[in-house]
Amino acid sequence: MKIYWFRLTKGIKNYNLKLFYRSLSNIPEINKSPRTIKLLNYKYSTDNWTNITPKIISHLGQNLHIAKNHPLSYVRQRIINHFYKSYLNRLGNPLFSVYDNINPIVTTVQNFDSLLIPIDHVSRAKSDCYYINQETLLRAHTTAHQAELIALGLDNFLIIGDVYRRDEIDCTHYPVFHQVDGVRLCTMEQIFKNVRDPSKLNIFEYGSNESIDKQRYHTLEAVKIMEYDLKKTLVGLVQTLFGKDIKYRWVNQIFPFTHPSWELEICFNDKWLEILGCGIIRQEILHKTGAVDRIGWAFGLGLERLAMCLYSIPDIRLFWSTDSGFLNQFVTDNINSSITYKPISLHPQCTNDISFWLPQDIEYSSNDFYDIVREIGGDKVEQILLIDTYVNPKTKRTSHCYKIVYRHMERVLSQEEVNKIHKQIEITISKQLNVVIR
Ligand code: PHE
Repeated sequence: MKIYWFRLTKGIKNYNLKLFYRSLSNIPEINKSPRTIKLLNYKYSTDNWTNITPKIISHLGQNLHIAKNHPLSYVRQRIINHFYKSYLNRLGNPLFSVYDNINPIVTTVQNFDSLLIPIDHVSRAKSDCYYINQETLLRAHTTAHQAELIALGLDNFLIIGDVYRRDEIDCTHYPVFHQVDGVRLCTMEQIFKNVRDPSKLNIFEYGSNESIDKQRYHTLEAVKIMEYDLKKTLVGLVQTLFGKDIKYRWVNQIFPFTHPSWELEICFNDKWLEILGCGIIRQEILHKTGAVDRIGWAFGLGLERLAMCLYSIPDIRLFWSTDSGFLNQFVTDNINSSITYKPISLHPQCTNDISFWLPQDIEYSSNDFYDIVREIGGDKVEQILLIDTYVNPKTKRTSHCYKIVYRHMERVLSQEEVNKIHKQIEITISKQLNVVIR
């Protein structure tokens, strides 16, 4: 699951894939007429950046992360409980406050600029995000609210909500998923409270350069104490969720808004899985938001991935199921109880291949294709695989061949039904993406 696509390494890789990037402005009818669109009770103007689709819009406001008896809601509450227990104020009350109902429609300033994400960063591409117009999009991460909450004077908080990304399609990727972000800011007194003679210590220093260990403004001792606190809390979290014996490891990472940065991986079913990204908040963000005397850490994690591991849920589409066969398995009074999901019945898959020549003069992105398939096939599409890329040596034209795997979660799909969907996909992509079916 691409939970941490803001990291730079992934971004650089993606640049190569984006050779064929093309505007999606044709896909939803919504951006031709009318020129405005109503989302969550507000009207927004549309423009040639609009690429939000009716299917995506239908997910707005569903708030699975706070739905009663929903597995995502249990994981959310267990994470909150961990933070409530781990940090107490002097009266014994929780230090962290929780924001789980912030509107997912944000500005590019919130989603990118406030987090120092450069103007040409790959994560801003139309092929990666759902834009309502050039300045407004569905948040691509809950980190989008970090700066505004710090500017309100908050020092310890969690942000939880739905996030939206255009991405590949398989059993671990869905264009809408849920994240938890956490932020903790500390003053000098708080950081060095356990030091006997803190008079010689500081959290800031001037005149040093950035290194792999720290930003130029910070002292190494302050960073190390923050790093220790951050890692202890996050390891504590995975141990609370998966048990004391869970195997984990830290991997260095790069994000535009933290430095140094890490990823936490856990070993699950003999595979290393990234479950969160974190780091020391860039001091520029704290300067701009007025928290000038503090140093901070931040992390972001995806709820689906944790819930899939915790409850053995094999397919990310199941979280959106309204089928009682799924939902009833999660009815419990105790959110900490261990539940293992039992597949209701796995209906057979139907597969169909599709090959086409890419347009020559306009850019093409596989994500444009994935969105159309998702629009037409809905949740009957389990997976799309790019299985072959071919360049004709004479004409230099490129063709892509994709395998589309169809499977309904709750009933058997007939080949006839699948063929109809497939035909519709062919007609639509020929018209909207200017490709030529082979
Ligand atoms: N927002 C990042 C992502 O979704 C995760 C993250 C949050 C990393 C906060 C570091 C600090 O990819």
